[in-house]
Amino acid sequence: MSTITAPQVRAHKVRAGKDPLVMVTAYDAPSARMADEAGVDLILVGDSVAMVVLGYDDTLQVTVDDLAHHTAAVARAKPRPLIVADLPWMSYHVGVEDTVRNAATLVRAGAQAVKLEGGRKRVPHIEAIVDAEVPVCGHLGLTPQSMHQMGGFKVQGKTSEAALALVADAKSLAAAGCFAIVLEGIPDEVAKMITDSVDVPTIGIGAGVDCDGQVLVFHDVLGIEDRVAPKFVRRYAELKAAGVAGLEAFAADVRSRAFPSEAETYHLAEAESDALAL
Ligand code: KIV
Ligand code: NA
Repeated sequence: MSTITAPQVRAHKVRAGKDPLVMVTAYDAPSARMADEAGVDLILVGDSVAMVVLGYDDTLQVTVDDLAHHTAAVARAKPRPLIVADLPWMSYHVGVEDTVRNAATLVRAGAQAVKLEGGRKRVPHIEAIVDAEVPVCGHLGLTPQSMHQMGGFKVQGKTSEAALALVADAKSLAAAGCFAIVLEGIPDEVAKMITDSVDVPTIGIGAGVDCDGQVLVFHDVLGIEDRVAPKFVRRYAELKAAGVAGLEAFAADVRSRAFPSEAETYHLAEAESDALAL
């Protein structure tokens, strides 16, 4: 199977008869392999790594170097899905040149595209990254890097004025060259208006069923993160509970000396090779 490209994603509209795109976050090689084997279309090395992996309370705490570190781990798995890396807060807010260099750092780490948050005001930065031959994914609606401006994580686009502003933003992002746009935390009616208004696919998270794709955070989908989740999260596995149960069983076996067994033990007088089977 060949790898998925940004031009392929750009052409992927549900109204053109396609199935919705599947995107999931991943932050390291094993999660990238899982996403690959599951047949998802895009992997997002999201700045959500701050919250679900690194233990921070928000996404504002991670840097380009943090994202590059995780992107490189994902890229080493050589997954078939398109690897999109988030440009973190303050990596595209200072100036256009700085923005392009930061995008390049993520590409050299293994990203095949970058994502940044915000509407019309990001157009110069998007155009500059696209000019540097790097595909850009937009992100509108509830943009977590704007948490202090928004006054928390709140559904966006609920007034007709705000909804129309989002439609205009989406058109600007598409015209600036974005190959896809993530829509987060907006009413489904607004997401549908946006999806109908642009020729590039929309990928929703808490944006209803009418987007051209859906994205969820790896640790949410698989129940590794089991603290309170927003209502758009659907859990398809309970890996945290399975993991705790596994570790409890290991601890019990160690304490009762049921682990290690004879078969798990080396002896001086033994014919088998010294090489550890990995
Ligand atoms: O960082 C992230 O996980 C994201 C998705 C929620 C779209 O940006
Ligand atoms: Na993000």
